[in-house]
Amino acid sequence: MAQRTRLALKPHDSDLKKNLLFHCDNLDCINYLQKHGFESKIDLVYIDPPFLSGERYFRRVDNDSNLAFEDLWKQSKYLEMMHKRLAEIRKLLSKDGSIFVHLDWHAVHYVKVMMDRIFGPENFRNEIIVKRGRRKNLQYQFESIDRMHTAYDSILWYSKSAETKFAPPLAKHHSKAKWMGFWSNVNRPTMRYEIFGVRLVRGQWKWAKERALKAVENYRLYEQKFSSMMTLEEYWESTGKKLEFVRKRPGVKYAEYWIPPKTHRIIDNVWLDIQAYNYSTGYGTEKHAQLLERIIGQFSKEDGLVADFFCGSGTTLAIAQKLGRRWIGCDSSPAAIAVTKKRLGSGFSIVNIN
Ligand SMILES: C[S@@+](CC[C@H](N)C(=O)[O-])C[C@H]1O[C@@H](n2cnc3c(N)ncnc32)[C@H](O)[C@@H]1O
Repeated sequence: MAQRTRLALKPHDSDLKKNLLFHCDNLDCINYLQKHGFESKIDLVYIDPPFLSGERYFRRVDNDSNLAFEDLWKQSKYLEMMHKRLAEIRKLLSKDGSIFVHLDWHAVHYVKVMMDRIFGPENFRNEIIVKRGRRKNLQYQFESIDRMHTAYDSILWYSKSAETKFAPPLAKHHSKAKWMGFWSNVNRPTMRYEIFGVRLVRGQWKWAKERALKAVENYRLYEQKFSSMMTLEEYWESTGKKLEFVRKRPGVKYAEYWIPPKTHRIIDNVWLDIQAYNYSTGYGTEKHAQLLERIIGQFSKEDGLVADFFCGSGTTLAIAQKLGRRWIGCDSSPAAIAVTKKRLGSGFSIVNIN
C-alpha cells in the first residue's frame, strides 16, 4: 500500500529520489515543488490538460460512472489557467529538460503562441500528430456536414534550452537487406571518380571515393573467400555489422551498394503507428501506454525525473515507473487519484500539502 504522509519535504537528496503523488490543484503542487528544491530538477514533463472541449468526463466503475472532471472553461479563463501553470513548470525543468503538452484543435494554436512566449520560439521542437482514439467517423449518416471529422490530437514539444540535443527517436521496424543503384543524379563533379572502369559524365556516385573503394574491396573479399560458406548478411553479421559493400553485376549499367537489414527506423513527427488513447482503467481521457513509452523512452534519460501535473489515471507515472524513471504526479480529481493509486500500487508517497 502507498503510505499516506504529510511530507515536509526538504531539499535533501533522499527526498528527490521518491516518487510523489499530489492530490491538489497543480499550481499549488508546482509552487510547493519550487519551494522545496525541485527547481531545474525535472527532466521531462508530459501534460494532458483539459482541451477546452466543453465536455464533462467520467470514470466508469463496473456498470456505473461518476464525474471525473469538467472541461467547461471560457476560453480567456482557460488560457489564463494554462499560462500560470506553464510559466511555473518552466522553472522546474532541468537544463536539458523538455515539456510535451497534449492538446487538440480547440486550444493548440493559442497554447502554441503562449508557449513561444514562455519558452521562446527557439525552444519549440515539434508539433507531434497523434491518432485520436476509437471515435468513429459518424458522418456517413448525414447528407451534409459542417466540417470534417477530426482524427488527430497535437502534442507540442518544447525544451528548456535550444542547445540540448537528442538521439534520433527510433521505432521498431524490420526491413530486409537490399542492393540499390550507386549512381545519384545530384551533380557533384568531385564525386565522379572511376569505379569498375566507369567514369561518369553527369550525376555522381553516392559515397566519397575512399569509402566506395573500401566497400568494393569488402565485397571482392567476400565473393572470393566466404560466399561459398555464408550469405552476405551472415558475413556482415560475423564481421561486426560494420562492413559496407559495393558490387557491379554484368549487364547492369552502374555499380550497386548494399543496404543492411534494419530493425528500427527513425520516426518523424506523425505518429500514426501507435495508439494515443486507451480504455483500460475506465478513466474517460486515459492515454495509451504506447504513447507515453515513446515520449518517456525516447526523450528522457534512464535515471531522469518525469512529471505529469494533470496525471488523470496515471498513465505517465505508470510508464515512468516501468522505464525506471522517478516520477511526480498531480491531479485535483478524487476519481483520478483513486485510479492512479490502484494502478501504481506501491512505491510512492502521497503528498498532502493542504
Ligand atoms: C485529460 S485528463 C488526463 C488524462 C491522463 N493523461 C491519463 O492518461 O489518464 C486531465 C486531468 O487534469 C486534471 N486537472 C484539471 N485541472 C487540474 C488542476 N488545476 N490541477 C490538477 N489537476 C487538474 C483533471 O482532473 C483530469 O484528470
